Amino acid sequence: MSTHSDLIHIFKGIPFTTRSSAELLKCLGSFQAHEDDLLLVSYPKSGTHWLAEIMKHLYNSKVTLTSPIEFGDISKLEELNNITTKRIIPTHLGYNMLPQDFKTKKCKAIYIIRNPKDTAVSLFHYYRDNPNLPTIDMWSTYFDMFLNGQVVYGSWFDHILSWEEHQNEMGTLFLYYESMKKNPFKSVRAISSYLGININDNEIHEICKKTSFSEMKNSAENEISDPNHTVCSLTSNRKMIFRKGTVGDWKQYFSTKQNRLFEELYNTKMNTSCLAKRIHYEN
Ligand code: A3P
Repeated sequence: MSTHSDLIHIFKGIPFTTRSSAELLKCLGSFQAHEDDLLLVSYPKSGTHWLAEIMKHLYNSKVTLTSPIEFGDISKLEELNNITTKRIIPTHLGYNMLPQDFKTKKCKAIYIIRNPKDTAVSLFHYYRDNPNLPTIDMWSTYFDMFLNGQVVYGSWFDHILSWEEHQNEMGTLFLYYESMKKNPFKSVRAISSYLGININDNEIHEICKKTSFSEMKNSAENEISDPNHTVCSLTSNRKMIFRKGTVGDWKQYFSTKQNRLFEELYNTKMNTSCLAKRIHYEN
């Protein structure tokens, strides 16, 4: 069995898996963005694959959906440089680690937010099932790590706050997982408007159908994973992604005391956050 130190390294105080090499992370600062690059941003387990699938349908085959900018080794920068079509680039990086050139060129970015309690539970399952992460069997151990920002990509709170603080610099569009579940049509309409894509109602309905949880889960079960093609730096195995896809699963895991601790930290950390005020915990 792989140990914690085989799988995790710390870069600028943030835990990364060894699938993001330290050399690559060091070089990201010099990355050259294109003005039409589009970033798909998320804290892990917030609906990244769902958002990426919507993008594929919105753009058909006219774009290249790359693997995350922080995934791989130093050869990654050249690989991205060689792409000549519009690039859609996923990332789980906090704003402060994002290559400067994306900011200078004011690239578009879409950030998907999921309520942190469900995000925590979803990531817990990743820690149990994903061989690229150290195994943590006990929910209570994991819960403390999540609260203290000791999981991959660090603190959920700091991640979202870093993007919110700079939201006007790149004109980032923020989407909510729970709103997408409730009204996918409205979300796809908002995305297409943000990107300036002309699309009619029938086409949107079609995209919503093709990107539903059940459709995506079924197709992941029937496809062969390509290790180089992933939208999440933590796994290339899509079969592992589609677990429940619901809102409110956290209630099966959080004890009353854990919920209180979580709420206390949430209220302290997110006190001034406008984005946090719009997060829904229920269906
Ligand atoms: P659960 O573990 O709660 O089921 P990411 O893509 O960022 O890794 O996020 C994975 C989470 O998004 C998983 O949550 C997964 O089931 C959920 N998900 C993926 N596709 C979805 C879809 N089309 N609709 C709803 N949820 C989806």
